[in-house]
Amino acid sequence: MGSIDTPTITENGSTQSYAAAAPADDNQRPLASSNGAQESEATKKRRTGIHPLEVGTRVMCRWRDGKYHPVKVIERRKLQSAEPSDYEYYVHYTEFNRRLDEWVKLEQLDLDSVETVVDEKVEDKVASLKMTRHQKRKIDETHVEVGHEELDAASLREHEEFTKVKNIATIELGRYEIETWYFSPFPPEYNDSLKLYFCEFCLNFMKRKEQLQRHMRKCDLKHPPGDEIYRSGTLSMFEVDGKKNKVYGQNLCYLAKLFLDHKTLYYDVDLFLFYVLCECDDRGCHMVGYFSKEKHSEESYNLACILTLPPYQRKGYGKFLIAFSYELSKKEGKVGTPERPLSDLGLLSYRGYWTRVLLDILKKHKGNISIKELSDMTAIKAEDILTTLQSLELIQYRKGQHVICADPKVLDRHLKAAGRGGLEVDVSKLIWTPYKEQS
Ligand code: ACO
Ligand code: ZN
Repeated sequence: MGSIDTPTITENGSTQSYAAAAPADDNQRPLASSNGAQESEATKKRRTGIHPLEVGTRVMCRWRDGKYHPVKVIERRKLQSAEPSDYEYYVHYTEFNRRLDEWVKLEQLDLDSVETVVDEKVEDKVASLKMTRHQKRKIDETHVEVGHEELDAASLREHEEFTKVKNIATIELGRYEIETWYFSPFPPEYNDSLKLYFCEFCLNFMKRKEQLQRHMRKCDLKHPPGDEIYRSGTLSMFEVDGKKNKVYGQNLCYLAKLFLDHKTLYYDVDLFLFYVLCECDDRGCHMVGYFSKEKHSEESYNLACILTLPPYQRKGYGKFLIAFSYELSKKEGKVGTPERPLSDLGLLSYRGYWTRVLLDILKKHKGNISIKELSDMTAIKAEDILTTLQSLELIQYRKGQHVICADPKVLDRHLKAAGRGGLEVDVSKLIWTPYKEQS
């Protein structure tokens, strides 16, 4: 299966770069050189004529794969240099996910490709946008993000406007230095730091390394707060009640938002449980990822947000977390579904999980099973079963009914394409009772 490109992580000084997913077309363009000796008069004139580039400009930009890709200028900032026209630009690669947005230098832009018509809608918005009280409250006062909501076009634009530039570039967490993906609404006093230092156990964050070192000498946590509800080999799951561990819940949300894009902000973590997955060794239990879950969901959501920290991605932990969320639903005797919208990576992971779980059962039952029965066995909501099987073209609509058509060869082909199974949840190691409000 191909790879969706993600930013980089560093461990012990060596940078590990994720495989690039750049389109392989002929977009190798000549670099609009800033080298004065080779620059023609005409080029010079054009360069001084069009820059600084306006926000909204569309232009080709040299990416880390050495190729040129279309970008849109999202923001610009002046460099502290003698040249009054020296700017760098925050660009969005229009073919890629927003996590790859970045600051680039003028030299990376091919000025021959500038589209002169600036996106007026963006310009207008930048010039005239004033935050309403409601919007301001959502961004400033809330330190916690929790749920997803279906975003309509207008709220999507609003979301992108207020979160358009990443505020924190990197974080240090345990052994890793990690490049962030998205904006996260840290309290204003943290927004002037490019890097934040997290305690990997209590998730408190600091602006300076010495502060973290001092903190680590005092911090007595060696694992997430809350109850250890699962342990198998070196893997542990902790259940953290947002009401009992408010600060931890809020810290986790700040951290997670750096890797989750379309999220809505709320005031309170009280309404959520956090399931934190750890790899344990003699130094403690190191957070790998987590998912959050509403204590009571009207919409039968069994998972609000899911994250595997970048250094641990593509190793099967995501599928483990998804499988775990369904095991909890089975224990509750309910069906569940993840909150929407799903991110690109979220959708891939869920599609893979649903495909494997459902097709394994279909194989055993030779297709002789209904969607309702599948749902009862797996705790996967009927709609998700239907869309999964439909996308695999395993459903036919006959005489007003959905019928599953399961040719064993076709099932095998789909199972192969669905990737590896991920880490197994050993249900016998899960010690858990569903949440009940304590009086
Ligand atoms: N490129 C291509 N396919 C990918 C990639 C990628 N970069 N990442 C995951 N996948 C697909 C693959 O099919 C993979 O299976 P495979 O490795 O067998 O081919 C499958 O998804 C899941 O792989 P895992 O290793 O089990 O999952 P991972 O630990 O990487 O976690 C997750 C997946 C949680 C979605 C992770 O990518 C992440 O944290 N992303 C950032 C946050 C996010 O987007 N969360 C989902 C938001 S939606 C919601 O919260 C309800
Ligand atoms: Zn700590």
